[in-house]
Amino acid sequence: MSRFMHIFKCQVLLEVNGEPMQVVIDANENVNGTLVLPVWEGSDGIASGNDNGINRILKNQIDSVLQSGDFTGKAGSKLTLAGTEGGKALLIGLGKSGKTTVQDMREAGAGAIAGRGKIHGNTLTVRFNGMSNADMAAFVEGMLLRDYSYDVYKTQNEDDEDKGPITVHVSCEAEKAEELKAATEVSAAVAKGVHLARDLGNAPPNDLYPMAYAEQAMEFASDFDNVNVKVINYDEAISMGMGGLVGVGMGSARKPCIVIFELNGDKPGPSPCIVGKGITFDTGGISLKPPPSMDEMKYDMHGSATTFGVMKALAESGWDQRVIGVSCMAENMPSSNAQRPGDVIKTYSGKTVEVLNTDAEGRLVLSDGLWYTGTHLNPSYIIDLATLTGACVVALGHEASGLWSNDDELLNNIKEAGERCGEIAWPMPLFKAFEKEMTDSKIADVRNLGAGRWGGSNTAAAFLKQFIPNKEGTEEQIPWAHLDIAGTAWGAKTNKLVKTGATGIHVRTLHHLITGQ
Ligand code: BES
Ligand code: MN
Ligand code: ZN
Repeated sequence: MSRFMHIFKCQVLLEVNGEPMQVVIDANENVNGTLVLPVWEGSDGIASGNDNGINRILKNQIDSVLQSGDFTGKAGSKLTLAGTEGGKALLIGLGKSGKTTVQDMREAGAGAIAGRGKIHGNTLTVRFNGMSNADMAAFVEGMLLRDYSYDVYKTQNEDDEDKGPITVHVSCEAEKAEELKAATEVSAAVAKGVHLARDLGNAPPNDLYPMAYAEQAMEFASDFDNVNVKVINYDEAISMGMGGLVGVGMGSARKPCIVIFELNGDKPGPSPCIVGKGITFDTGGISLKPPPSMDEMKYDMHGSATTFGVMKALAESGWDQRVIGVSCMAENMPSSNAQRPGDVIKTYSGKTVEVLNTDAEGRLVLSDGLWYTGTHLNPSYIIDLATLTGACVVALGHEASGLWSNDDELLNNIKEAGERCGEIAWPMPLFKAFEKEMTDSKIADVRNLGAGRWGGSNTAAAFLKQFIPNKEGTEEQIPWAHLDIAGTAWGAKTNKLVKTGATGIHVRTLHHLITGQ
């Protein structure tokens, strides 16, 4: 075994982080642990049906704060009560009944988990009587999603009481229980995919490098009969002529690869294909980035994290149709054998690219991944996700991903799925002028840098469009959409469904788009 194998063998730590929350839907008359009470604005007492088994004094205390208006139920508000003769309650304000959105309900549920504090421990009982199925399901979904922290690398537990799985007992009217149970099962399965995507996005780049991702993908495949994973390794990528992937990855001792996930490969295509940018660390390469916040460039693989997360969410929720994921993995490093600004590379499509800036690397690895997907994997449509440009963060902040597409129907479907899931994808233009700008290199077919810095996220999208093949035997491109998640995958302080770090963005959007669930 070579010395490198020892140094770079992933030592520990990429296992899924922590035990998932257990949600039990029961008609339990007792209160287990803390009573969590969602409260509509203006309520003047505990809703009927929600008061079983509550310690009498605690119940009076709750009624009293509601009647006096000390707790108004405003959206985002919370109140902890410790019963003077036992029992604890956490009141969660929902806002005005009839005025709230599904996303408000998710955020309220997330607020219950975020606001638990030490006092409430890990066993909760939520009473939902009087709420609609959609509101209850969203509240539970918010709880599931927010129950996440990345502490794989913490060897000392600062706060033991916060650790360990949370158990949530949920009760509602008997006739609503079945529907809530079904919705909760889907949400719990999808949350596993979201949490996996966050784990990958948060993982440090010394342990999560391209082949470590590939190994984790193969392990995932071995857990499910209907999942296959294939890896195109560095040598294969070279012999296949994947000059984009090879150009970006060759400067690192951790070599690049392409990881292909196939769910239900025995089912007929054409099928949805999800393609992710997976730069496990982006130094900029020879066009080196400045030091501030460079550590955050470990999340430059969040497109591939979302791709893996979607595959996991689909497998866990029992989706039975064919779906493909393709992750383009590389580490962008400066070194004596790194690519240079000025290099011309030949991509898998046969098109040549003038590399004017080695920091515009995501589009290079994607050029090969997209062309491969279009020509080998029988897509009904292709959606790529990439932390592609700082310019997209300038345009949309952390509130929305940029969305570009060559197909209006696909664009609208993604936009709607994003809205439904509270993961906004905002339409951006693919003007011909941007394509012209990217294809006027003096010495190659395409250039990897715009002529100026204006419209940088649009020129990046226009670059990608050059690598979408036509539908077989036609002059028309395969339907394709590009999501720039540079702003939404990380540092999204207004995203109440995650505390910090990687967000797992668009796992839910894509699961919903593909399955309708
Ligand atoms: N990974 C970065 C984009 C990025 C920036 C993601 C900030 C998240 C936060 C990408 O590879 C990159 O470096 N893009 C350059 C492109 C430029 C050289 C054309 C950028 O945005 O500056
Ligand atoms: Mn870069
Ligand atoms: Zn990058």
